[in-house]
Amino acid sequence: MLNDSGFLNLCRLRRSVRRFSDRPVEKEKLELCLEAARLAPSAENGQPWRFVVFNDPKKKQAMADAVFKGIYAASRNFASAPVLVALLIKESLLVNKLGRMVQGTPFQFVDAGIAGEHFVLAAAEQGLGTCWVGWFDGRALIKHLGLKGKGFRPIALIAVGYPAPGFQPKELRRHALEEITFWNSPPR
Ligand SMILES: Cc1cc2nc3c(=O)[nH]c(=O)nc-3n(C[C@H](O)[C@H](O)[C@H](O)COP(=O)(O)O)c2cc1C
Repeated sequence: MLNDSGFLNLCRLRRSVRRFSDRPVEKEKLELCLEAARLAPSAENGQPWRFVVFNDPKKKQAMADAVFKGIYAASRNFASAPVLVALLIKESLLVNKLGRMVQGTPFQFVDAGIAGEHFVLAAAEQGLGTCWVGWFDGRALIKHLGLKGKGFRPIALIAVGYPAPGFQPKELRRHALEEITFWNSPPR
């Protein structure tokens, strides 16, 4: 059995929230999440992430209308989150181009994932619910923000808010440690 730690408990506590209460999210709490994201590590300290925070209800709705259309309408429920954060990367960094060319790994995606999860865990620690949203129209987001041709690429949205009363997360399904960990031997 693993020893418990505050951090491990936070990892257990964080679950995707897909229904939110109307309670507004305090700006200071969002700022703390953003600060946690800012401190994330990145390849060559490139920090390619950019966070566009939609906490103005009208602006958030306009963005949601743009990105949750057509085949992406399945994500419309996230429009009711009090805050939607668009996680983008700035693609022009030399280190990312080199990483992809030489090693094959597009590190800027890794970097964005780490920063996004810092954000999400900081939110969980403050009692906020979040959900990563990958099912949205990224091209529409770029158009909506007037970023066409400017070297930005959308990675994900993060819905943020207090969980709706009675919200129950889905059952936690994770592989067992021995299915994902291989000590001194190749994976099966
Ligand atoms: C990159 C990424 C994209 C995701 N996109 C969606 C999405 O579009 N819609 C959704 O409902 N959940 C989405 N999720 C949430 C996952 O479904 C969820 O994390 C997973 O089922 C595990 O559940 P948990 O977060 O409650 O532990 C996404 C998660 C990640 C990390």
